[in-house]
Amino acid sequence: MGKIGLTKTANLLPRLRAALSGGIAQALETVLRLADEEGRTLYLVGGGVRDLVLGRGQVDIDLVGEGAMRPLAEAAAAALGGRWVEHRTFGTATVEGQDFRLDLAMARAERYARPGALPRVRAASIGDDLARRDFTINAMALALCGRQRGQLLDPFDGMGDIARGLVRVLHDRSFIDDATRILRAVRYETRFSFGIEQKTLALLKRDLAYLDTISGARLQHDLLRLLAEDEPEKGLLRCQELGVLAAIHKALRFDDELAAAFRRARRAGQPPPQPELYLALLGTRLSPADAEAIALRLALSKRQRQALEGAADLTQLLPWLSRSDIRPSQVVERLALHPLPAVQAWALVASQSPGGEKLGHYLEQWRYVKPSLDGRALARLGIARGPLTGDVLRLLKAARLDGQTSSRQQELELVRAVLAGRVEVPEAKAGEQ
Ligand code: CTP
Repeated sequence: MGKIGLTKTANLLPRLRAALSGGIAQALETVLRLADEEGRTLYLVGGGVRDLVLGRGQVDIDLVGEGAMRPLAEAAAAALGGRWVEHRTFGTATVEGQDFRLDLAMARAERYARPGALPRVRAASIGDDLARRDFTINAMALALCGRQRGQLLDPFDGMGDIARGLVRVLHDRSFIDDATRILRAVRYETRFSFGIEQKTLALLKRDLAYLDTISGARLQHDLLRLLAEDEPEKGLLRCQELGVLAAIHKALRFDDELAAAFRRARRAGQPPPQPELYLALLGTRLSPADAEAIALRLALSKRQRQALEGAADLTQLLPWLSRSDIRPSQVVERLALHPLPAVQAWALVASQSPGGEKLGHYLEQWRYVKPSLDGRALARLGIARGPLTGDVLRLLKAARLDGQTSSRQQELELVRAVLAGRVEVPEAKAGEQ
């Protein structure tokens, strides 16, 4: 690689200090003092430098130094009264205490034996470490101690690309080496309202097929990181436009209506939506077979899979739900069998339709409805504990939901009618409890 340019950027260190909270600030200061004493330089690298330059509040502290990190981690843990752990494969070490955790990585070079594989690594210079990275904006290092303290290593003009608002790869094989970078490019582009640089965009499109070389777990990881963005619909629309979703699976797609449903999901929920809800929204556009295939491809966890597949399965219930002759109790009975995120997703997608309205009622009211009488009250009325108790409670709940009873008194009358044989109790169907 070429000569490393050094840029004096006087305001980055004060910005870093301002971005750190108590515990981590003190731990970092100690680590840097010890590194200084050992005569070595530690660098802040990756997203942390980018975010300092951009002036974004929170900063991830990823530290890199040349050579083994273990001695420094040991000394720092002793000085701070914390613990240290070494991760042999990548030569990194972690120091942690009650209110801090610092990762110290050994500068390394990477070689990809084949596309999509995890790279082989070897100890290398800080310059090599920057050269192995994904984009210019993530390939800068800020020296935090030693003679170069305060200087920025920016061999690929990341500063220029930040100023221009561009996501640019470092070399032509970047997406071939690691196609998760395709999703990462979209994530940064939409998060920072940047653009993917023209040549990078051509490479990204050229190399879409390399997404096939990525394991389900890694693909899932980067897709979930996209979903964890403040406005994930922007990234997904872009993925749709660029053919990224189709490259993951031919049936996976995103559109403006889903984007609107994503936004409604955030307005509806107080805490930000869980990834399961977003996955379920994606599932509303899929056939059950495609949803199953995609869940498999992305190695989804059980809950994630249930959300995606549940939403695809629920599609077939929509025509039934839109009928005017079905009772709330029937809706509750059927929907209780479906994962909640799947129901929530359909309520968001179909909010304007009659079926969608019922989903809304179910989520907001019907699923919480309970009869006044409980199993103990039924026992006092002479219903021996057993399957009949469950059946009668279900009957009472249905009567509440459908407006046939609205008081404890009316429920008592209904139970007496059951005991007198004037009302028949329907038995539970398979799948109901
Ligand atoms: N990196 C890379 N290629 C990858 C993953 C990571 O080059 N496939 C490098 C980048 O330099 C990145 C750094 O490792 O900045 C840290 O990775 P990560 O935490 O995933 O990136 P951040 O930029 O910190 O992402 P975010 O801001 O979303 O947390």
